[in-house]
Amino acid sequence: MAHLWQGVIQEYSAFFTHNILDNIVTLQEGGTPLIHATQLESLFADAKPTIYVKFEGANPTGSFKDRGMTAAVSNAVSHGAKTLVCASTGNTSASAAAYAAKAGLDSAVLVPTGKIAVGKLSQAIAHNAKVLQIDGNFDDCLIVARELSENYPVELVNSVNPARIEGQKTAPFEIIDVLGRPPDIHALPVGNAGNISAYWKGYNEYKVARKCDTLPKMYGFQASGAAPIVLGKKVDNPETIATAIRIGNPASWENALNARDESGGLIDMVTDDEILVAHKLLSKKAAIFCEPASAAGLAGILKLHKQGMLPKKQLIVITCTGHGLKDPSWALKESALDVSEFEPIRVANDVSEVAKVLKL
Ligand code: F0G
Repeated sequence: MAHLWQGVIQEYSAFFTHNILDNIVTLQEGGTPLIHATQLESLFADAKPTIYVKFEGANPTGSFKDRGMTAAVSNAVSHGAKTLVCASTGNTSASAAAYAAKAGLDSAVLVPTGKIAVGKLSQAIAHNAKVLQIDGNFDDCLIVARELSENYPVELVNSVNPARIEGQKTAPFEIIDVLGRPPDIHALPVGNAGNISAYWKGYNEYKVARKCDTLPKMYGFQASGAAPIVLGKKVDNPETIATAIRIGNPASWENALNARDESGGLIDMVTDDEILVAHKLLSKKAAIFCEPASAAGLAGILKLHKQGMLPKKQLIVITCTGHGLKDPSWALKESALDVSEFEPIRVANDVSEVAKVLKL
């Protein structure tokens, strides 16, 4: 009989502790596609990489956050929490709202003013979160959310909550289970830096469990207008079209540096233009529709290749962190059309007219 995927906690129960296992709240997240992107490999002719994309947009709320949220909310239920709170550039809020609804809890999400993709905001509203727009950026929202959780009876479900990292460490388990080994290089976007830390933890735990013998080099990429780790200092006014990673003071900064240094990897930055080029290549060549921030991993690998810094014949996994439908306006903008200007081609209700327009 076909195996119905149970969600990351049940699938990898040996890697979770009782506080998370006792009251599992799941939307059967994880088990996402690992897509062999042969069309992208041809962009790197001389380097001859093998490229797989871990498409996290296929999670229940459309981003990797669901892996962490199932663990954070299960843990919250175990100790009787009633209300969840998070700061978010959008995806965490969508995920927190959904898992709160599933568990029958209340949720409040703090988002920066004016910078949230409409898809993400509509999810939070649909799942009944109280959406509070704070006069500030993500970093300001996280300070308020942290203080709120220290002084009031609410559970913080940002990635500073260790349960979030526990859940997100399962993506590398799936990659190794499918490929039979870790990649040589793992590339992904970096914002608040929880995910790169979680991946590194996961790869290491699987090695300790003798599920693999090697570890990948972790390659993290920030947006150049929001690249505190690359610059080595906080960015007060982070700016990027990749709103998901518009973060100037990542909470998991130290852990990200550890992942970089222990793995022999790097953390670099990519411009908005480089992100948009990668986004277009993912959509048009690999048929993977992700949101702009999600394209930072491919943008970074392309940049390194251009600089002659990409080692040859590597097995590379790139995580695409969130679905394109979260922030679909970019697909239209990339066609040099503003969303409001987009006009479909109007054709008569007639097959030969349609064929004519299609030049058939
Ligand atoms: N990609 C997407 C689509 C994201 O939403 C985020 C983070 C990241 C990458 C970066 O991951 O923070 O673990 O380094 N989004 C958070 C949010 C900040 O609020 O949804 P990270």
